[in-house]
Amino acid sequence: MATIDLIDLKKNYGNVPAVKGVNLKVADGELIVLVGPSGCGKSTLLRMVAGLETVTSGRLEIGGRDVVKAEPAERDIAMVFQNYALYPHMSVRGNLEYGLKNRGTPRAEIDRRVQEAADILEIGPLLDRKPRQLSGGQRQRVAMGRAIVREPAAFLFDEPLSNLDAKLRVQMRVEIRKLQRRLKTTSLYVTHDQLEAMTLADRLVVMNAGLVEQIGTPTEVYDHPATLFVAGFIGSPPMNLIDVASLSNRRGLDGLPAGTDIIGIRPDVLFLTPQEGISLSMQGTVELLEPIGGESHLHVRLDSSGQSVVLSVPGRPNIAEGSAVTLHARVADIHPFNAQTGRRTDTAVANL
Ligand SMILES: Nc1ncnc2c1ncn2[C@@H]1O[C@H](COP(=O)(O)OP(=O)(O)OP(=O)(O)O)[C@@H](O)[C@H]1O
Ligand SMILES: [Mg+2]
Repeated sequence: MATIDLIDLKKNYGNVPAVKGVNLKVADGELIVLVGPSGCGKSTLLRMVAGLETVTSGRLEIGGRDVVKAEPAERDIAMVFQNYALYPHMSVRGNLEYGLKNRGTPRAEIDRRVQEAADILEIGPLLDRKPRQLSGGQRQRVAMGRAIVREPAAFLFDEPLSNLDAKLRVQMRVEIRKLQRRLKTTSLYVTHDQLEAMTLADRLVVMNAGLVEQIGTPTEVYDHPATLFVAGFIGSPPMNLIDVASLSNRRGLDGLPAGTDIIGIRPDVLFLTPQEGISLSMQGTVELLEPIGGESHLHVRLDSSGQSVVLSVPGRPNIAEGSAVTLHARVADIHPFNAQTGRRTDTAVANL
């Protein structure tokens, strides 16, 4: 096992910056999830750690050892990709053994590790099959098995579940979490799926355009998004971000910190009935009611600005589209932001 330290790590492709200076300390045994929109630099960062991409500047240490110039094979890490990258002509057993054989691992040791990985992943009955005879989920298990048998200091995952259907993805996500808890192997996991990120991570790293927006536990990031970007990215449906200047009734907002010109309100703390304590109210018109199982999403157009906001409400409220409604939010549930800085105005949120 090992720590992974990134110190002002940068990557340019030609003169195009992809990673613009990332600082991150991954603790021994920790599972860190890198999350952010397409093109923000997640894979580039992971590939630098793996040694598949050169580092433009900054430092990179695995287990306290500077590995910037080390070959991938010298870094003692195993990577699991989206496309499995299994050898099609080899059996499952052959795929699991391949890397160990190459390293000259003794036969008995190979057998022990393959058996152990097969037990952990419950792929024992599949060992003699070829990859094409497996389902997507089974292939992904084999790809994980290939990483496990190496007993590496760290696992790197690049969107390992994105080729699977929704149900299998949830199932494999739970399995990866259990597996990582059991093996306690330091892991960096890349995804653009914020739900996957929230459920898997010990700590989340939210990236945007080559930079880190926020690092924290999923709860910290959800309860206290440091920037407007994080506020809009983490949470589903996303947080409503409302321009203060557009509100006709600002009662309750005088208590917000100086410089607040955007307020964020999560869909589950916007209500159709008055709330106790100091609250904000807004008039609007119901545009759309989406029932989604146990709750419904109510899309409401605000009269003051024409902006649409979303409420998550329990059950299936009996409200016709086109109805006039008054929305209420407790001031305590409001996230205050400044549009210019893009940051919260209430506290200095530690970013690193
Ligand atoms: N080999 C390359 N040459 C030039 N530019 C590249 C190369 N690889 C990636 N980029 C650029 O670097 C930026 C970061 O790409 P990267 O693949 O790291 O994004 P990502 O966050 O993994 O996105 P996704 O979620 O789509 O996988 C993008 O703008 C991309 O176009
Ligand atoms: Mg990627």
